[in-house]
Amino acid sequence: KKEEPLKVMISGAPASGKGTQCELIKNKFGLVHISAGDLLRAEIATGSENGKKAKEFMEKGMLVPDEIVVMMVKQRLMQPDVEQHGWLLDGYPRSFSQAMALENLEIRPDIFILLEVSDESLVERVVGRRLDPVTGKIYHLKYSPPENDEIASRLTQRFDDTEEKVKLRLKTHYQNVESVISIYESVLYKVNGNASKEEVFAEIDKGLMSVLENKRNLDPAS
Ligand code: AP5
Repeated sequence: KKEEPLKVMISGAPASGKGTQCELIKNKFGLVHISAGDLLRAEIATGSENGKKAKEFMEKGMLVPDEIVVMMVKQRLMQPDVEQHGWLLDGYPRSFSQAMALENLEIRPDIFILLEVSDESLVERVVGRRLDPVTGKIYHLKYSPPENDEIASRLTQRFDDTEEKVKLRLKTHYQNVESVISIYESVLYKVNGNASKEEVFAEIDKGLMSVLENKRNLDPAS
């Protein structure tokens, strides 16, 4: 009997390293990475009404209304690859009501990872972040520079990655994070995100391995 796959939520302030760590987690554990922010940016790229509306909120550093976000994430969670490989939910839930939407479907994580990073580092990380539109890889001009000139010349910046906007995004984060944590207290796993990305991943890896171990021990058929 195949054991039930991992179900992971990852949360943290803007630029705390969620996307970077999700890449590493996905590579090792094979989970399906579902990023609320990426789903929204894909919707904006289609030019749809929902995309236009979402962009207005994202430009102000505010949460996009539930009627757009909740449906999007729920739909993605219902796909067969998620059931088979497990999920890694990044940037969702960001409010009490978003968490309750999952609770009502009995969708719960095995572990809720919270990346903790100081505000000064967050601003520096946002301002230096660059994205490769070809591979989707996340870079940082100082901490994760591109491998060669060809990649360097095609890097882009996100429309909400300015010092002014990150301050608004941070405020929104701090207004909501406690109410979300309160729902996942029993599976909360705090990680110091100020270290290098390898060190941060080592901590996360420890947490995920111990969850897997517990799942195996609890499953009488394994
Ligand atoms: P979203 O796209 O989720 O953005 P965010 O939460 O602000 O997070 P980021 O993607 O900016 O950062 P990250 O934590 O992934 O960091 P990264 O790994 O890139 O959301 C954007 C907007 O969409 C929101 O503001 C909101 O409007 C809307 N939205 C999204 N979800 C929503 C929801 N559920 N409900 C309503 N609205 C929603 O790293 C950042 C930089 O730091 C990179 O350059 C990286 O190379 C570098 N870095 C990473 N780790 C390290 C390290 N250890 N040391 C040094 N540098 C590092």
